[in-house]
Amino acid sequence: MTATTLRTQVAIVGAGPAGLTLSCLLHNAGIESVVLENRSRRYVEERIRAGVLEQGTAEVLAAAGVGERMHREGIVHHGIHLQFAGERHRIPLSDLADGRAIVIYGQTEVVKDLIEARVDAGLDLRFDVADVSVHDIETERPRVRFSHEHRDFELECDAIVGADGFHGVCRPAIEQHLRIFSREYPFAWLGILAAAPPSSEELVYAHHERGFALLSLRSAERSRLYLQCAADERLDEWPDTRIWDELQCRVALDGWTLVEGAVLEKGITPMRSFVTEPMQHGRLFLAGDSAHIVPPTGAKGLNLAISDVTVLAEALVSSFTGGSRTGLAEYSRMCLRRVWRAEHFSYWMTTMLHRLGDDPFDSQLQLSQLRYIVSSEAAARTLAENYVGLPLGHRAATPGR
Ligand code: FAD
Ligand code: DHB
Repeated sequence: MTATTLRTQVAIVGAGPAGLTLSCLLHNAGIESVVLENRSRRYVEERIRAGVLEQGTAEVLAAAGVGERMHREGIVHHGIHLQFAGERHRIPLSDLADGRAIVIYGQTEVVKDLIEARVDAGLDLRFDVADVSVHDIETERPRVRFSHEHRDFELECDAIVGADGFHGVCRPAIEQHLRIFSREYPFAWLGILAAAPPSSEELVYAHHERGFALLSLRSAERSRLYLQCAADERLDEWPDTRIWDELQCRVALDGWTLVEGAVLEKGITPMRSFVTEPMQHGRLFLAGDSAHIVPPTGAKGLNLAISDVTVLAEALVSSFTGGSRTGLAEYSRMCLRRVWRAEHFSYWMTTMLHRLGDDPFDSQLQLSQLRYIVSSEAAARTLAENYVGLPLGHRAATPGR
């Protein structure tokens, strides 16, 4: 069967937050793209993941014209809590970080808003595609082959963006040109969505001798909660009663109770740190999780994906509109400084808050660090600045510095 040839300016592989936001930013600037996703629309819209948007991320989405529901339903938070040694301490993020805040708005909702905008505008977004492969990326005419609804296609374009996550096909296609940095952790997160009102108005990151726990939320009726578990544990080892017992134990506080509710969804997420350098080769540009992974403790994964595509959109628009091509050549360098900052922050939060093993020396160091954060404004500010997200300007190296 011969393939049908299609043509666009930018072929985007993956309809996660990175690919969808990029297609939206490009469309707003008059650049055409096609988004190819190998899962169904329903699957992509219901995949529960992150929930914390940095203010800069919320601003990008609003400026792109997809912030209306986020403004209505997102919950602005000005602080988080650190809990350890039986005490809970508030970190006043906004007071410490120039008034900046975070917005609690699920990744599922971000993705739904972006998909709806694209579908309403009648733009090309194909779900359930199969056999995606990238070709001729070292030439001026790269191509993506795929099949869709039992037909084969060849999509000619000027640039391909691999926004296909950690397990996608784009990064492996250029792996021999990349340097990989990575770290695996011997633990994972068991996350649940519960039909329960949040017991704490703001997020609580809890250090406990039995392991880390996190209280988050999605709305006034939905709590999102996480527990550290072993990397090799299976969900069937965690009936709901065991999850609640463990949460109750790890976040217990005198005079405060954790409200329980029906468990609507649960899953185990492995933890890793991973960076590829550079994030591009020829006419293929990697963005989001396809280029880097952070352990979730700093809530950075989704935010990094959006900052990558903000840089990439600017560079692509400039190259298509007769402006400079240096933006594209510099894309990876522009992103990696911010990526490594987020990598360090996520690693730091992870190793400070999780049970690392049986050595009590580790937990004494963690407790010392946590006490320092809640007693030194300088230390708390370091956490706050990174948590709310450094300004996008931090992404590029400043000459001479
Ligand atoms: P993705 O969201 O992974 O999107 C990539 C898309 O590409 C997917 O839709 C995928 O189906 C598609 N795709 C893959 N292969 C192909 C192919 N061959 N062809 C076409 N399409 C393809 N971050 C946090 O900050 N907090 C969290 O609590 C948190 N929880 C997470 C839980 C899980 C299980 C995972 C995997 C990640 C989690 N993250 C979390 C990270 C955060 O969700 C990601 O950083 C974010 O989704 C990155 O967006 P992305 O668009 O780069 O990648
Ligand atoms: C959530 C996820 C995170 O990784 C985090 O650090 C805080 C909150 C969440 O899903 O709500």
